[in-house]
Amino acid sequence: MSQQPGPNVLTVNGTERNINADPATPLLSVLRGELGLTGSRFGCGANQCGACNVLIDDVAVASCDTPLWAAAGKHVTTIEGLGTAEHPHPLQRAFLHEQAMQCGYCIAGILISAAALLKRQPDPSEAEVRAALDRNLCRCGAHNRIVRAVLRAAKEVRP
Ligand code: FES
Ligand code: FES
Repeated sequence: MSQQPGPNVLTVNGTERNINADPATPLLSVLRGELGLTGSRFGCGANQCGACNVLIDDVAVASCDTPLWAAAGKHVTTIEGLGTAEHPHPLQRAFLHEQAMQCGYCIAGILISAAALLKRQPDPSEAEVRAALDRNLCRCGAHNRIVRAVLRAAKEVRP
């Protein structure tokens, strides 16, 4: 019989991690504090802005509002695991191409939401992109460039 992972064991960006923290600790605090993955941003802390979004098993979730125990045994992908400067994800290339950012604070969460969308719908319409990013706030108003960038990346990733 296979053993269930403990409440503090999860896979982050492909590496299994056993976290020394209360299982009720918000995942965002674990990622930024325990693991030093500071790409996920603290915005509202209340599941209202999307700045802290990460993928859990390919679904975008607000890590500020997700306790550590809820990610146990699952695969968490942060912006650090999406792509690197040397090997950017197609979304990251497209965001650069479209200059789809201003201050950049919201962008990690938006890239994660967009990555989740392209996983489930590789050929999204503009309306689907807007709907998928509906819960990600961008105070700089870069929305139109962001939507263009996601549509550009979709063209690149779809088979
Ligand atoms: S910081 Fe998590 S949704 Fe705003
Ligand atoms: S680019 Fe500044 S909040 Fe979105």
